[in-house]
Amino acid sequence: MRIVLLGAPGSGKGTQAKLLVEKYKIPQMSTGDLLRAEVAAGTDLGKKAKAAMDSGQLVTDDIVLGMIQARLAKPDAKNGFILDGFPRNIPQAQALDAMLARLGQPLQLALLVDVDTDVLMKRLTGRRTCGSCGAIYNIHFSAPKTSNKCDKCGGSLTHRSDDNEQTVGKRLAVYQQQTAPLANYYKAQGKLRTVRGVGTVSAIFKNATDIIESQIRPLADVMSKI
Ligand code: AP5
Repeated sequence: MRIVLLGAPGSGKGTQAKLLVEKYKIPQMSTGDLLRAEVAAGTDLGKKAKAAMDSGQLVTDDIVLGMIQARLAKPDAKNGFILDGFPRNIPQAQALDAMLARLGQPLQLALLVDVDTDVLMKRLTGRRTCGSCGAIYNIHFSAPKTSNKCDKCGGSLTHRSDDNEQTVGKRLAVYQQQTAPLANYYKAQGKLRTVRGVGTVSAIFKNATDIIESQIRPLADVMSKI
């Protein structure tokens, strides 16, 4: 399964990606997570990316494309992947198509998680993430049982530095300008499907997996009979 998850900041891409990883046993590739790891490790790449991330702008394409190319070359990408937060603009989408064409593994589905803008600010400013296992919580919608402790592993929960009102406002504007046009890019390829991202996480997941299986499984079945 080779899937891109599209959607505004806070639409629930990361939340759904983690459930898809568990169900389909394919890796999540989040450019946001990869970049935050570089920033935390203090690498040159992280230093270059930090200013853009702190101000809610996109990191330059050359940095992100290099990271994704290296990630796709790892052995666990052979059976498929869920791209989360990449591509973010048309040049990144074109570069991804070229990379996957070279690997002989074209993208099968671009799944857009659709959420109204007025919900996103509360979701993002209320988000808390486990620093140990990466589990995602929300102080308004899905709070942990004990304040600031992960229910799953007991790790400490952190508040992302770009989840403040000012930076979220910028991220949402950048999304509208640069990332939202990707819906038409994938629609023109016949690969775009949309799942409504409002309601319970489990109901959205059920709808997402129904779409994935109707789009990808029949293709896999046809290929296996050839
Ligand atoms: P990135 O980390 O990709 O952030 P993002 O796209 O802004 O997306 P988020 O992770 O904020 O949201 P999400 O959709 O994953 O939501 P989540 O599931 O956590 O990027 C960060 C920065 O890195 C960018 O600004 C940029 O600078 C840089 N960057 C990254 N990729 C790049 C690229 N390709 N090119 C250039 N620069 C790049 O959910 C959010 C909250 O909502 C959580 O609290 C969750 O619990 C809650 N929630 C989820 N679902 C529901 C629900 N159904 N009901 C109620 N609450 C819910």
